[in-house]
Amino acid sequence: MKKIAIAQLLPGMVTAESVLDINKQLIIEKGTLLKESHIRRLQSYNILAVCVEDSPITADLEEFEESNTEEAEDMTYGQKVRASEEYKAFRKNYDLKLDSLKTTLNSVVEKNVDLDVRELLQSSLSMVSGTNSSMSVLDMLHNMREYDDSTYAHCMNVALICNVLATWLKLSPEDVEMATACGLLHDIGKIMVDQSLITKPGKLSATEYSEVKNHTVRGYKLLQEKNVDVHIRNAALMHHERNDGTGYPLGLRGEQIDRFARIVAIADVYDAMTATRVYREALCPFRVIEMFEEEGFQKYEVEYLLVFLENVVNTYIQNQCLLSDGTIATIVFVNRSKLSRPVVECEGRYINLADQPGLKIEKLL
Ligand SMILES: [Fe+2]
Ligand SMILES: [Fe+2]
Repeated sequence: MKKIAIAQLLPGMVTAESVLDINKQLIIEKGTLLKESHIRRLQSYNILAVCVEDSPITADLEEFEESNTEEAEDMTYGQKVRASEEYKAFRKNYDLKLDSLKTTLNSVVEKNVDLDVRELLQSSLSMVSGTNSSMSVLDMLHNMREYDDSTYAHCMNVALICNVLATWLKLSPEDVEMATACGLLHDIGKIMVDQSLITKPGKLSATEYSEVKNHTVRGYKLLQEKNVDVHIRNAALMHHERNDGTGYPLGLRGEQIDRFARIVAIADVYDAMTATRVYREALCPFRVIEMFEEEGFQKYEVEYLLVFLENVVNTYIQNQCLLSDGTIATIVFVNRSKLSRPVVECEGRYINLADQPGLKIEKLL
């Protein structure tokens, strides 16, 4: 049995406990094979998480899928992603690779064994090459965080996002691999920090915060002992540095920061912002883009950030969205000067969101 966020529920999962509303009225019984309609019902009651059985798929799956496909029309964008075959295959592969990443990183940190970066890298690269581009890797990651806020899952996600970003930047195949490896190992120092600090809810004391920030230096030193490539070491040390000198641990600026660390910095923050948290669903990608537009260009490499955000927006061209005034529209053109506010079309009418400060994309449908 495991507790899982509503945003991550999939049709086919089975409830392990009855779900009650605040007045203790039954919403869904224990042992229910969930359909989209059940998930919508839970959302309408503002239930945040439910307990489901560990092996969610029942023997009646085929029959179940048939009865469930009728509901596909009403699915949200996230539910469509999660119901797709491509997503299911990606997720299965991800779980396997995550397990092996965890074992490897733990033995490197705890048992002082050698670190074979090549082998580690091949495992995560096979995940990206195994997906076709019809559904973006970012979309799939966005929909599968559950409550796995572990450092291992975060490292895996950042590696995949770095891989996508480096490809968009048209780096050489060697540099795409290097960026992926840098993402994979950027937070290895966090495994060495007292885990109660990493997962501590609420504010950290000044001492605790400096202990957490020190994961950069500890990661760098460990990777140095293992004779790992200098860019990988630098990415561990410098991924919290910011171009305007406001980062840590050294307060470096612009060119002083390793270029791979500047790639990791964007992937790192994007992953943190799009993660599903216990208290909220993953943020709409346009909200994330808006946040980067508000303060990102002083802090991150402008060229990298622009390419990243433009490509994220491009992923959603032709996608339906819900605007803040309740209108349903289709995203049709990217506004390069205001990426979070594209041109949308609604019943033959074009609305340039860049000219409508009071109107924005609320969610993808
Ligand atoms: Fe970090
Ligand atoms: Fe990180």
